[in-house]
Amino acid sequence: MKDSLFAIISQRKLTDSVYEMKLSGDISHITRSGQFVNLKIDGLYLRRPISVCDLDGDTLTLIYKRVGAGTEALSRMEPGDRLPILSGLGNGYDLSLAGEKPLLIGGGVGVPPLYLAAKLLRAAGKQVSVILGFNSAAEIFYEEEFRALGCRVTVTTVDGSRGVKGFVTDALPAEYSHVYTCGPEPMLRAVYRRIESGGSFSFEKRMGCGFGACMGCSCKTIAGYKRICREGPVLQKEEILWED
Ligand SMILES: Cc1cc2nc3c(=O)[nH]c(=O)nc-3n(C[C@H](O)[C@H](O)[C@H](O)COP(=O)(O)OP(=O)(O)OC[C@H]3O[C@@H](n4cnc5c(N)ncnc54)[C@H](O)[C@@H]3O)c2cc1C
Ligand code: FES
Repeated sequence: MKDSLFAIISQRKLTDSVYEMKLSGDISHITRSGQFVNLKIDGLYLRRPISVCDLDGDTLTLIYKRVGAGTEALSRMEPGDRLPILSGLGNGYDLSLAGEKPLLIGGGVGVPPLYLAAKLLRAAGKQVSVILGFNSAAEIFYEEEFRALGCRVTVTTVDGSRGVKGFVTDALPAEYSHVYTCGPEPMLRAVYRRIESGGSFSFEKRMGCGFGACMGCSCKTIAGYKRICREGPVLQKEEILWED
């Protein structure tokens, strides 16, 4: 884990409320896709966790949705502004579990961490299928970016305004070797129930410290309590215990 200053290189609006931010800084502590960084935003006590979307040289790409004070403040920042960032947090995805035909399933702002996973899996020569789930066509982002990596991409929208009408589970392919997924919990539950392979599931919890000190993000698993910020955010299918 490393606390350092990053400089904003660019901000791009991807949809009405979703932004892509590129920053330059020390990314040496980020070792896996599926990890996250914790951003210190001026005037806010708690840092805000955002998944690593991409790494390129010393450039870190984040994608975030404007939902409250922190992400609103982020959306107003400009190239040249600096952000204190704790990097290298969380366990991330274990890509050695992928097999030859990994399937990546993302819902809404669960899509970003799958981009770096897809890029690394393609570089390793895997046949990567991706399902991107959104509510409507207006919310879709990064479809072309995944296609440009050479992934087979299926988009689903709940209202049917683009792609397959319905949920990500309505578009599962016949064959896949392992599932990597991130998205809202109801989506993760549906994926858990439907898939026949092993799966790596990335969870979101409200966080305090973000690095294992406060226990604020503990969650019960088959193997006892785990801190989502430290032993997660990725849990394997076999260890997940759904609490009603
Ligand atoms: C490991 C991890 C990775 C994440 N990656 C991304 C990402 O790549 N892109 C992205 O847009 N968001 C991501 N999030 C969610 C993001 O951290 C929150 O949306 C953000 O902290 C909200 O801050 P805010 O000040 O704008 O909103 P707040 O004012 O804090 O909250 C506004 C609304 O968002 C909800 N909310 C806030 N934090 C969370 C959370 N952690 N989980 C679920 N709901 C929350 C609140 O309940 C409230 O309804 C991630 C969260 C975690 C734990
Ligand atoms: S957020 Fe503090 S232990 Fe996870």
